[in-house]
Amino acid sequence: MAQIKKIGILSSGGDAPGMNAAIRAVARKAIQMGIEPVGVIGGYKGLVDEDLKPLSSCDVSNIVNRGGTALYTARCLEFQTEEGMNRAIATCKRNNIDAIVAIGGDGTFRGATDLAVHGIPTVGVTGTIDNDITATDYTVGFDTAMNTVVELVDKLRDTCESHSRINVIEVMGRHCGQIALCAGIASGAIATIIPEVPFDEAEILNRIKTAREDGKRGMIVMVSEGVFVKDGQGNEIPYGEVITNKICEMGLDAKFVRPAHIVRGGTPTLRDRLTATKMGVKAVELIAEGKSNLVVIENDGKIESLDILFALTADRMYKGKLKDGDLDKFSAEDIKAMEAISEKRRAEIAELYAIANDVAH
Ligand code: F6P
Repeated sequence: MAQIKKIGILSSGGDAPGMNAAIRAVARKAIQMGIEPVGVIGGYKGLVDEDLKPLSSCDVSNIVNRGGTALYTARCLEFQTEEGMNRAIATCKRNNIDAIVAIGGDGTFRGATDLAVHGIPTVGVTGTIDNDITATDYTVGFDTAMNTVVELVDKLRDTCESHSRINVIEVMGRHCGQIALCAGIASGAIATIIPEVPFDEAEILNRIKTAREDGKRGMIVMVSEGVFVKDGQGNEIPYGEVITNKICEMGLDAKFVRPAHIVRGGTPTLRDRLTATKMGVKAVELIAEGKSNLVVIENDGKIESLDILFALTADRMYKGKLKDGDLDKFSAEDIKAMEAISEKRRAEIAELYAIANDVAH
């Protein structure tokens, strides 16, 4: 095994609070192990364009507490082409980059696998507010995002209570309702609507009507951005807007709120800084051991790693997106493990959803 002397660090896809703590941890742990860290600016685009920055210990000072990513991020279509990949590999070779730590979500890990296939060892660290990578219990950024939503709802509560109004709040999460579900419980929503669980619109509207009759003034309806209905032309209409109109049609005052990217910014919480740091350290240890094509995950509170392809396939299995042949490379034991991961996630969501409804009104 060739000794690892230099590693590149990049963040890619949507930024997430805590990414900086991961960058800092990777850089500092590498330096501590005698490995030179180099920052790749703007995700995979930085590899394609050879935009690099050597990182000293001081360069990563004062970022553990900052949201966003100090290495910047971008979605890079060129990296997905053969020419872009060749340029990225050439950048690694010219600059003696022996391995890459890639921080991000599933798109980032697909890129990491491509690099590994082309001979550049890579390890991924999960960073996305969505917590939508099924093979890990946790992705860096999730806790901060949930806390931001709770803080925003607390502010909304002040005003909707004063005005006897219903605020419908739509939160990010792409196709995953976890931010909405957890923040809905923590902020006392009367209804939480997520893509993973079918809901009964009439029952929700009735719940709101009954609560008002019972004397409840302000109410919060939490909707995940992944819930849509189709209009006559087949266009997807965000469900948060739809239910706001339906509440108004019942003669109640309702307003729709979409904080959008505000939920992705801000000071990372302790949970995100700590997990990012643990994951960053683990990523460097794995690389120094000569491992590649792994993603660092959290499993029942422990920091572990999984083969990236296994993790991505388990994710597709849970999301019902498996394509023909996807499972061919895996043993029966692997497939069983993937099924167990999907089941664990389903059970977790079902339990939280039941709790949300138990305390809704
Ligand atoms: O994946 C993070 C995320 O913020 C999702 O919650 C959201 O759907 C998406 O990214 C928004 O992407 P963009 O920043 O490209 O608008």
